[in-house]
Amino acid sequence: MSTLTNNIEIIKTEATKINDVDFDNLKFGDVFSDHMLECDYKDGKWHAPKIVPYQAITLDPSAKIFHYGQSVFEGMKAYKDTDGKAWLFRPLDNFKRLNISSKRLAIPELPEDYFMEGLKTLLDIDKDWIPTNQGSSLYIRPFIFASGKGFHASPADAYKFIICTAPSGAYFSGEVRVLIEETYSRSANGGVGFAKAGGNYAGQFYPTQLAVEKGYQQVIWTDDNNHEYIEEAGAMNIFIRINDTLITGPTSDRILDGITRKSIIELAKAENIPVEVRKISVKEVVEAAKNGTLKEMFGAGTAAVISPIAGFGYKDADYELPKLDKTYASYLKKRITDIQTNKAEDPFGWRYEA
Ligand code: PLP
Ligand code: COI
Repeated sequence: MSTLTNNIEIIKTEATKINDVDFDNLKFGDVFSDHMLECDYKDGKWHAPKIVPYQAITLDPSAKIFHYGQSVFEGMKAYKDTDGKAWLFRPLDNFKRLNISSKRLAIPELPEDYFMEGLKTLLDIDKDWIPTNQGSSLYIRPFIFASGKGFHASPADAYKFIICTAPSGAYFSGEVRVLIEETYSRSANGGVGFAKAGGNYAGQFYPTQLAVEKGYQQVIWTDDNNHEYIEEAGAMNIFIRINDTLITGPTSDRILDGITRKSIIELAKAENIPVEVRKISVKEVVEAAKNGTLKEMFGAGTAAVISPIAGFGYKDADYELPKLDKTYASYLKKRITDIQTNKAEDPFGWRYEA
C-alpha cells in the first residue's frame, strides 16, 4: 500500500531552537528537535502524515489513552557519519514491531510508507539535529495512542501516530547495578510483554523505585511463574557470559524481541563467540558468580546500546562481576556502533541510509 510519495504536507518552524542546545553535554531524551511528524486515524483509515513544528497536542479528557492505556511506541536512533550522511539501523524491524504491538492492543496497523517515508522526510528536515559526538545520536520516538473519545471500555475510533526526535547522549551514566526480582512481574504468559506498550513501562516503575531505594539502578525481571528464570533487564534484553559462552533467554510472549539483542546474536555467531539462546535460571547465575565462572552480564537495547552490569543483588546478598580487561560487552558495542555510524563495513545489511 504505497500512496505517499511527495504527499507529505510540511509546515516548518519560524524559529529554530537548535542554537539553544549544548551538543557537547546531551542528556538522554530531554531536548527535542524542531519538527515532529503527526498522522491521524479517523473514519476507518490512516490519513497522510504531516510534518509540523514540535508542539503540544490537545486531547479530549475522555480520550481512551488516558483511561484504557491504548498506546504503543518504538525506539530508534539516527547517526551521522563524517561525510554528513544520515543513517538508521534496521528501521523496517521497528516498523514491523510497531504493528505487532499495535495488533495486540487492538490499534489499527499503520501503512509502511507512512512510517518510512514520513520518518525519512522528518530526518531530512531536522538533519542538523543529528549529533556527531562519540556516543551521541538522534533518538527517535515513534508512538501511537488512542485519541478517540468515550468512557466505553473498547478500542477507540481515532488514533494519533507521532514521531518526535531528541538529540541524546548516553542512557546510563556510571555503573549499573541490578536487583533480581523475586516478587513483581513485568509480564505474564498470554499478556503484552512482547509488545512495546506504554503500560508495560508504567508497571515497572514502582518495583524499580523499590530497587533504587536499595541502591540498584534496574530490576532484572524474572518469569512470572516462580521467578526462577532471568528474562529482561529493565528496558533492555539481557546477556550473561559464563566462561566464554554468551547466553540470552529465548523470546516469548513475555519478552520484547529486541533488535539490539538479535543483532548481538548474529554478530557473536559471525565472530565465533559461542552464543546460546536458552532459558537461564537465577540459580545458574548465582552459582556461576560464586564459583567464578560468571564473567559478564550486560543489558542490550536501542537507548542503552550495550550496558555492562557491575553487580547484582539477590535475596539480600550482593554479587560483584569481575573487572576484565577485555570484555564481550565493549567489543560487541564497538562492532555494533561502528556499523551503525558507518565506520565499519556492514556485511549484514543492517545500516539504512536515511
Ligand atoms: N526490552 C524492553 C522491555 C525494551 O523496552 C527494549 C527497548 O527497546 C528492549 C528490550 C531492547 O529492544 P531494542 O534492542 O529493539 O531497542
Ligand atoms: C529503547 O531502547 O529505545 C527503549 O525504548 C527503551 C526506553 C524505555 C528508553
